[in-house]
Amino acid sequence: MSRQTQAIIHADAILSNFKLLAELAPTSRSMAVVKADAYGHGAVNVSRILQHVSPRFAVAIIEEAIALREAGITAPIVVLEGAHQAKECAMAASHGCILVMHNQAQLEWMLACPEDRRPTIWLKADSGMHRLGFVLNTLPSIVKQYASLITQDTVLVTHLACADDTSNDFTQKQLSAFLQIATQLALPVSIANSPATIEWPQSRGDWNRLGIAVYGGQPNTANVALAPTMTLRSSIIALRDVPKGESVGYGQNWVAQKDSRIATVGIGYADGYPRHCPNGTPVAVNGERAGLAGRVSMDMITIDVTHISNVNIGDRVELWGENVPINEVAEAADSIDYELLTRVSARVPRIVKYR
Ligand SMILES: Cc1ncc(COP(=O)(O)O)c(C=O)c1O
Repeated sequence: MSRQTQAIIHADAILSNFKLLAELAPTSRSMAVVKADAYGHGAVNVSRILQHVSPRFAVAIIEEAIALREAGITAPIVVLEGAHQAKECAMAASHGCILVMHNQAQLEWMLACPEDRRPTIWLKADSGMHRLGFVLNTLPSIVKQYASLITQDTVLVTHLACADDTSNDFTQKQLSAFLQIATQLALPVSIANSPATIEWPQSRGDWNRLGIAVYGGQPNTANVALAPTMTLRSSIIALRDVPKGESVGYGQNWVAQKDSRIATVGIGYADGYPRHCPNGTPVAVNGERAGLAGRVSMDMITIDVTHISNVNIGDRVELWGENVPINEVAEAADSIDYELLTRVSARVPRIVKYR
C-alpha cells in the first residue's frame, strides 16, 4: 500500500454502541442496519463484529443480503425495500431473507411464487412519511386479502420522518395512528430507527432497526455515550511556505493573510471527502486541530499548519474520528454524518482494529 489514506473501523466501538442501544430498549429486539456497506464501514466487517449480538441484520436490497451470505453471515436478513422483481421472492427464501412488502405488486409476486419457495414477509405501513408502505386504513383489508402470506413471523413495520427532532409532534402523530392499526391487527411491530430508539420510548417495538447510532451518530438533543466508529485518516505528502498575499489551490479560494505554512494531504473528493468543505473545516494533525486552506481537489486537500510546530511530510492527518467529530465536518459541508460515512469511496481501504 502506498498512500496512508485509510478508514480505521473501530470494532469495539461498534460492539459497545450496539450493546448500549439494545440495553436502552430491553423489551425490544434490536437489529443492526448494515445497508450501504454498513454506512461505509464494510457490511461484512460490521456483520462479523455484531453477529453474536444482533440476531438479524437489515439491508436495503437483496444484493446486499446475498453478499453477506457469501461471506458466511447466517442470521436472517431483513430486506427493507423488499423485492424489485418477482424473481427476488424465491431468491429471498433461498438466502434466508425476510422481504418487507410495501406495495400490492410485491404481494402479487409473492402469491405467484410457489408456496414452498416463499420467504417470510413483513408488511410496511405508511404512517405519514409518504415514501413507502400501505396507507394505514387499507391495511385491514390487505391483511385479509393476503392472509395466506401472513405467518407468525410477519411484523408490521413503519418508519418515522422526524424522530431526530424531539420538538416535532409529528412523531407522536405517526406513532398514535400506526399503533392503533397495529393493535387492531394484533401483529408484532418494528418502528424505531436510531433516533427513535434513543428519544421516543413509545416507538420501541418488537424489533428496533439501529443504523447511524451503531456508527456513533445520535440526535443533537440526546446524551448517550456513543463512540465514533470510523477514523478517516491520511498523511501529509508535501509542505511549503506560502508568503502573505499568495493563494492556494483551485480558484485561488484561500489567500494567505500572513506568511503561512501549507501542508498537502493525500485525500480528496474521489475518496469521499466532501468537496463542499469550506476553508477552515477542521482536521487534526498529529492530534492538533488545523483547518482546510483552499478548495478540496480530487485526490488532495491543503491545510494551514502555520500554528503547529514540527510538522513533517508523512505526519498523520485525521479528517474525522476521535479528534474531529464527524458532525463538525458534516455541518461545514452542509451535509449529515450519514452521507459522509456512506460516501467514503472504494479507493479507501477499511482497516478493522480491535483496541
Ligand atoms: C426503513 C429504515 N429503517 C431503519 C433505518 C435506520 O435508520 P438510522 O440510521 O437513523 O438508525 C433506515 C435508514 O435509513 C431505514 O430506511
